[in-house]
Amino acid sequence: MNNLILCGFMGCGKTTVGHRLSRLLSMEYLDLDAEIEIESGLSIPEIFSQFGEDHFRDLEHRAIADIAKRISCVVSTGGGALTFARNVKVISPQDTVIFLDVPFEVCYDRIKDTGRPIVASNTKDQMRQLYEKRRSAYLAASSCRISGAVPADEAANAIRSHLGR
Ligand code: S3P
Repeated sequence: MNNLILCGFMGCGKTTVGHRLSRLLSMEYLDLDAEIEIESGLSIPEIFSQFGEDHFRDLEHRAIADIAKRISCVVSTGGGALTFARNVKVISPQDTVIFLDVPFEVCYDRIKDTGRPIVASNTKDQMRQLYEKRRSAYLAASSCRISGAVPADEAANAIRSHLGR
């Protein structure tokens, strides 16, 4: 079994759905941001504030390249990860990329007060523009799309059905 990789905007539910999916399919669960934090010994906001976004993107690329060598994992990516071609390129064609396509307002309500660096440094309008820009990248990178703000269990079941399992 190859990896199942979840992508989508911040607040779309990648972590929650990823956990449910990994339990449902008895697969190992990995969170890309958590891997970066463990590897660097810093939180994501600390990486952004101490070293800047470009450095974070380099760590992110290294982490996804490492994860891509593994098999049978459910992987939650950070909202920016699969918007970069170099990250999409390291994913095996055997892996399935799943896009959680949740409306902007739902995502924004969930993330607006969470202290995520990208949210803290952008207005709501800028976040909406980022959402629109990234959506086409998520669509291009994925072969399965779960549309709407569906409950996590429902999303996990829909993904399982899509995989025919
Ligand atoms: C980011 C999303 C975050 C995290 C970092 C950057 C982004 O992950 O990787 O703060 O650029 O969208 P979540 O999507 O899990 O919030």
